Amino acid sequence: NYYAILMAGGVGSRFWPVSKATYPKQFHDMLGTGKSLLQSTFSRLQKIIPTENIFILTNANYQALVQKQLPEITERQLVLEPAMRNTAPCILLASLKIYKENPNALMAVAPSDHWIEDEEAFTSNLQMSFDACQRQSILMTLGIQPSFPNTGYGYIKFLENDKSTIKAVEKFTEKPDYLTAKKFLQEGNYTWNAGIFIWSAKAILEAFEQHQPSMKSLFAKGYEVLNTSAENKFLTSDYSKAENISIDYAILEKASNIYMLTASFDWNDLGTWGSLYEQLPKNEQENVVINSNQLIEINSSENIVRTSTNKLVVLEGLKKYMVIETEDELVIVSKEKEQDIKQIRRAAIEKY
Ligand code: GDD
Ligand code: MG
Repeated sequence: NYYAILMAGGVGSRFWPVSKATYPKQFHDMLGTGKSLLQSTFSRLQKIIPTENIFILTNANYQALVQKQLPEITERQLVLEPAMRNTAPCILLASLKIYKENPNALMAVAPSDHWIEDEEAFTSNLQMSFDACQRQSILMTLGIQPSFPNTGYGYIKFLENDKSTIKAVEKFTEKPDYLTAKKFLQEGNYTWNAGIFIWSAKAILEAFEQHQPSMKSLFAKGYEVLNTSAENKFLTSDYSKAENISIDYAILEKASNIYMLTASFDWNDLGTWGSLYEQLPKNEQENVVINSNQLIEINSSENIVRTSTNKLVVLEGLKKYMVIETEDELVIVSKEKEQDIKQIRRAAIEKY
C-alpha cells in the first residue's frame, strides 16, 4: 500500500546561474556525491517504498532529463505537468491517480531538493508516520528543530506540554516574516516544516474537498480519464486552469487534522548557495571551492567558489561571497544577498 510522489518540477532559481529553467538544481549533483539530488531522493525512498510505486511529478519540459537520470521508471510513474502551478495542483493530481489505482494507498510526498544523510532514521520516521496514517485519517508532517528565524520555511506550532512522539499541530504558518519567525523561535514550541508529508490518498483528497473545493472539482472532472490514454488530453486542456498555490497555503494552513513527528535525522533544504556552503567541507580558511583544486587564498574566508572546470582560483581580501562560474556566466554576489538572487537573475536576463 505504500506509495510516494517525488516533486521535481521547481526551477531552483536561487541557485542561479548553475540551476536554470532548462536544467534545474534537482538534476544537478549539487553535493558532489556522484548522484543528482533527484537520484539521491529516489534511492532514499526506495528503502521503504516499492520502486514501482514511486511517482515522479515534474514539468513536461523535464521529461527527457528524468528518463535519463531514472531509467528504471515506467511511463505510468512519470506524471508530466503541462504548466507550472506549484505543489498543490501537482499533489492533488497525483493523489487522484494513486487513489484510483489503489483506494487504500498511503503516500509520502517528498521534495527533490533536500540533503538527508541518515537514511535509516529517515526510513524509520516514514514508517512511524505511515503507521499513524493507517490508524487515523490525519495529515502527517515532519518537523525540524529550528536554529534561526529562517523566513523561507513553514512553521509548525504544537502544544508546549505535549510530550507525545506524534503531536497534534496547533497552527501551521507558511513563510512568516522575519519578526514573526523570531517570535516563534523565542516561544520555543515550533518546528520547521521539512516539506515531507505522509497521509492516505483518501485523507488528502478529503482535505482538498474541504479546503480547495474548486481545484478539487476541476480535477475530479477528469477522474474518469486518469490513468488512461486520454489523461494527457485532459491535462493539456485543464491543468493550467488550477490556481498557482503551494500545498502549504492551500491545505496545511487550513486543515485541522495535521500532526507532526519531529524528524530524527539531520536535514538541510538546499535552497541557496549559502545552504550548500553549510553542507560542504570547508578548507582551513573556511572557504568552499567546487571543481577546482588550484587555489591561492589570501585574507579570504567563508566564500563559496564554483568554477566550471578545474582552473586556478586566486582570492585576495574576499569575505562571505559567492563566486559562481558556469560556461556562460560569472556571478559574484555577497552571501548576505543570497535570497535576492531571484531578482538579480531577473534583472540580468531582462538586459541580456
Ligand atoms: N512537480 C512539481 N510541480 N514540483 C514542484 C513545483 C511544480 O509546479 N513547484 C515546486 N516543486 C517542487 C520543487 O522542485 C521542490 O522539490 C518542492 O516541490 C518544494 O518546492 P519549493 O519551491 O522548494 O518549496 P519551498 O522550499 O519554498 O517551501 C517548502 O519546503 C520548505 C522546506 O524545504 C514548504 O513546504 C515549506 O513549508 C518548507 O519549510
Ligand atoms: Mg525548497
